[in-house]
Amino acid sequence: MPRMTVNERPVEFDLDPDMPLLYALREAANLTGTKSCGGGDCVGACMVIVDGTALRSCRITIAEAEGRFITTIEGLSRDRSHPVQQAMVADQAIQCGYCTPGIVMAAAALLDRVAAPSKAEIEEAITNMCRCGVYPRLVKAIDRAARVKARGESISAAPAPGISAADAAASVPALRTTEPSDPDEGS
Ligand code: FES
Ligand code: FES
Repeated sequence: MPRMTVNERPVEFDLDPDMPLLYALREAANLTGTKSCGGGDCVGACMVIVDGTALRSCRITIAEAEGRFITTIEGLSRDRSHPVQQAMVADQAIQCGYCTPGIVMAAAALLDRVAAPSKAEIEEAITNMCRCGVYPRLVKAIDRAARVKARGESISAAPAPGISAADAAASVPALRTTEPSDPDEGS
């Protein structure tokens, strides 16, 4: 039964050792923030940090993860306050969001390794696929996250943790909703 540390907690999986880490995390540990394309084709929605390196969790078995330190998107920050998370929101580098957890993990691992990566270094490190095409904003967001991380700043444009969908919509003028009109009014 492979043992490892997941988000700073010791974990022992009573599962087939050949099971991909991805499925152990999602289905046994209920850490569903890590996404899956179901077959290694999405190039990175499943990325987690393993001993400091961003890896595709669909390509590593739990036997191979034995004794290693795994961080998933849930463990990166408890309140979405990691500089990469803040910058991705502030620079609107998220569309459907499916690729986002993997990209955030890849970017977080990059910034742990290289404090101020160049555009070329960012492009080389972030090999994740985004079908919505957020790449230009992504590079900008990661560059911004590096500056935020270096200075210990936070970004005020990032929504407060736990913001409700209604409040989030209300904070964006274009999405502001109005109460449904009274069907009897004016009849
Ligand atoms: S699940 Fe798509 S690359 Fe891992
Ligand atoms: S934001 Fe949709 S796949 Fe990247």
